[in-house]
Amino acid sequence: MKALVLAGGAGTRLRPITHTSPKQLVPVANKPVLFYGLEALAEAGVREVGVIVGDGGGEIRAAVGNGSRFGLDVTYIPQHAPLGLAHAVLIARDFLGADDFVMYLGDNFVVGGVTEIVERFRADRPAAQILLTKVDDPTAFGVAELGPDGGVLRLEEKPSRPKSDLALVGVYLFTPAVHEAVRSIKPSRRGELEITHALQWLIDQGCDVRSTTISGYWKDTGNVLDMLEVNRSVLDTLEPGVAGKVDAASEIVGRVRVEEGAEVCGSRIVGPAVIGAGTVITGSYIGPFTSIADNCRIDDSEVAFSIVLQNARIDGVRRIEASLIGRSATVAPAPRTPSAHRLVLGDHSTVHLAS
Ligand code: DAU
Repeated sequence: MKALVLAGGAGTRLRPITHTSPKQLVPVANKPVLFYGLEALAEAGVREVGVIVGDGGGEIRAAVGNGSRFGLDVTYIPQHAPLGLAHAVLIARDFLGADDFVMYLGDNFVVGGVTEIVERFRADRPAAQILLTKVDDPTAFGVAELGPDGGVLRLEEKPSRPKSDLALVGVYLFTPAVHEAVRSIKPSRRGELEITHALQWLIDQGCDVRSTTISGYWKDTGNVLDMLEVNRSVLDTLEPGVAGKVDAASEIVGRVRVEEGAEVCGSRIVGPAVIGAGTVITGSYIGPFTSIADNCRIDDSEVAFSIVLQNARIDGVRRIEASLIGRSATVAPAPRTPSAHRLVLGDHSTVHLAS
């Protein structure tokens, strides 16, 4: 069993964060979302992984390397343009050979991993196995219509009038039967070779396409609150520990990890929270449900239920809540005169001012 991990495509949703970094590297509890997928595959016993990369390929390669730190053997497969999920299967034909495989979308997060589903697929070997989950807005997903016996009747890609609230999760299991399917379909209205259409082709040929409905699923739909929520749920399972320095005037409460090289002085950190390597926090109150990435500097501030990315600086701000603060961003009070908000915001930024 191999895996095909999709880490190409264009990041348009969690802007502005994905203007400057591939969406698969958006961090959840200080770790790129893609890494959780790779760990889940390794845990399910997969070793050989093909990673599809596009424009952001350099950053993905730098982050994942040869895969050995995950116990994986990674082969990179460049895709010259994001021509669709089924196109990725087409160009991975040589890598996949005659093996069964898991296709895993690198920006998807499945709580609890995929071990059970991979084991069941190995035992039953239907032509394809899909995962579904109930969502509030199915129009942003592939949507499945199931028959009375639970069999998959029809799949539609981002329908304007969805026939159910069951969205396709970005984890698919295939036998080599999918190769004929991806060769047989035509590009969709959005110009992509859709894996949803390849699955529908298999269903129409009378192949066995099975579904399992799961809970505990997240993908970036552009909603920062969703991202904060997945961050919260992963922080809840964090291995606590203090590898950095915490001075006597500080207090650490609950499930908190302070990474090596981090320094906490005269501050209170309330878990669940993670403080990244090289970050310095003085005179501040951090947490709960907060991830501070590496090499940040936070002084005289309060930050709760938030994600702060690398090299950000927060100085003298009370209090920041439910926020996503990008790499190397600075948040600080304006001088007393003139009394005005002074903003330098990237494209697609959002600011909610408390006064
Ligand atoms: O996430 C689940 C959804 O993923 C499913 O419900 C949909 O049925 C499926 O079509 C797909 O929809 P999206 O429009 O959300 O896919 P997106 O373009 O975001 O791409 C998913 C991942 O695959 C992402 O990590 C980027 C990567 N990708 C995408 C395309 C189109 C590639 O590597 N190459 C590509 O050509």
